[in-house]
Formats: sequence, C-alpha cells, structure tokens
Amino acid sequence: MSGRLDTKTALITGGNSGIGRAIAERFVAEGANVTITGRNQSTIDEVASSLGDRGQGFRSDVSDMASHAEVVDKAVAKFGKLDVFVANAGIAEMIPFLETTEADYDRVMDINLKGLFFGVQAAVRHMNDGGSIVLTGSVVSVKGFPAFSAYSATKGAVRTLARVLASELAERKIRVNVISPGPIATHIFGRQGIERDFIEENFTQMVPLKRLGEPDELANLALFLASDEASYITGADFHADGGVAQV
Ligand SMILES: NC(=O)c1ccc[n+]([C@@H]2O[C@H](COP(=O)([O-])OP(=O)(O)OC[C@H]3O[C@@H](n4cnc5c(N)ncnc54)[C@H](OP(=O)(O)O)[C@@H]3O)[C@@H](O)[C@H]2O)c1
Repeated sequence: MSGRLDTKTALITGGNSGIGRAIAERFVAEGANVTITGRNQSTIDEVASSLGDRGQGFRSDVSDMASHAEVVDKAVAKFGKLDVFVANAGIAEMIPFLETTEADYDRVMDINLKGLFFGVQAAVRHMNDGGSIVLTGSVVSVKGFPAFSAYSATKGAVRTLARVLASELAERKIRVNVISPGPIATHIFGRQGIERDFIEENFTQMVPLKRLGEPDELANLALFLASDEASYITGADFHADGGVAQV
C-alpha cells in the first residue's frame, strides 16, 4: 500500500500525547519513519512501541537548548536526514495577567517559543532540501481570551516566526506552515488541574460547531502540510478550530 509520506523521515516534539501523538500515528500509517520526543518516559515508550519498527522515541525537554541537537542526531542516525519537523510541544496555563509572575512568563516562553525556535534551528541543519516544517500555533494568535496573556504571546510569535522562516528557507525549498487548533480534547488543561467539564462549559459554547475538536482533526492538517500535496503552500496558518476564530 502506498502512503502519502512514503520514504519520508519525521521528527515530532511532544509526540507522546494529544495532538502530537495523533500526528505521529498518522504519519507512520502513511509510510513515514517517525521519531517522537517528550518529557514523560513512560508515555514516550508506550507511543514509540505502538509505532512499531518505523518509530522511536526519546526524552528531551525543549526548554533545554542543548537537547535539540542531541535528539536530531538520534533521529538522523536511525532514519536518515529529516524531511519533516513538527514543532508541537507546548504548555497552556490560564493565569490572569496581573497574577502572572516572571517565573510563569519564563516557563511558557522557554517551552512554547524559545524551545520551538531552537528546535527548528537544530532540525533545519539536518533537513533535506524540499522538507516541510509544521509549527503548532493556536487560535489565540488571533483571539484575545482572558487569562491567556503569556501563552497567547508565544503563539502570536510562532505565527510571525513562520512567515520569516518560510521566506528565509525558501531558497532550500523548505516549506514552513502553522496549524492552529481551537479547543481540542487533550490533557493540556487537565495538567493544570482544569477539569474537562470546565472546558466543555466555557469553551464549547464559543465554538460554532459546538464541540471540542479531536487530535485526529489536527493530524489531518499536519499530514497534508507535511506531504507533497502541499508543495505550493508556505508561510500559511491553517485553523482547525470549529470556526471559533473564523466567524
Ligand atoms: N488542546 C488544545 O486545546 C490546544 C489548542 C491550541 C493549541 N494547542 C497546542 O497544541 C500543542 C499540543 O498540545 P496538546 O493539546 O496535544 O496537549 P498535551 O496532550 O498536553 O501535549 C503536550 C505535549 O507537549 C509536550 N511537552 C510539554 N512541555 C514540554 C517540554 N518542556 N519538552 C518537551 N515536550 C514538552 C508534552 O510532553 P509530556 O507529556 O512528556 O510532558 C506533550 O507531549 C501545544 O503546542 C499546544 O499549545 C492545543
């Protein structure tokens, strides 16, 4: 059976949970060799083993700048130079602006922005010309939801960064695009002790389609952008958000 990513090699940060996991599983199903990273060793092992011979996983904290080159080296050592890099690892913390401490600010910036920036830099150094970079953004880059100030600033910056990278890497035919989820049913808010019921009540009513999205609905977008079907698309931002930032 021929897949849409046959012969391609991908590295996905935050591939052991939620959206990143769905992307990893879809990529392998479509023929790619996939390396995932995350922080939690047991879920890394679980997902890597579910990916089979065409998957592997490593513990790597994106806020540790030295880890980026190490993980890219491991991915390349097993599967060869990268064709696709998905910078997906991220945290979301709801903190009112006036209560946001410097430590809160640094934590989200270090993971969502600085970690993504230097992750892409390490990946590009070992990427084939003609590759594809997919950055996980968010609808918050264009919507102003209360209590998401630092988080939204990171995602706005990710969207802006994509324009520059698309322009700068075009000479190597490397495409750079953003996938921007609306509220998706993952563990991201549960990690902060926010219950699923709270998310359903407070976010679902804002969504024209009146439901949370599923990780697979982002994997569909990432697959398209990673594949040669998106060969004329770069610098763009695609929202899978049930319409929340569109209507
Ligand atoms: N769910 C939503 O509603 C939503 C909406 C808009 C945007 N997003 C974005 O989607 C992306 C994925 O989130 P998700 O919803 O799938 O949440 P998730 O299930 O919590 O997954 C987050 C992933 O990021 C990894 N991660 C977090 N901090 C990391 C670090 N310092 N180093 C390495 N990996 C780290 C986590 O690894 P561990 O599990 O090992 O910690 C996990 O794999 C994030 O960038 C998020 O901002 C999500």
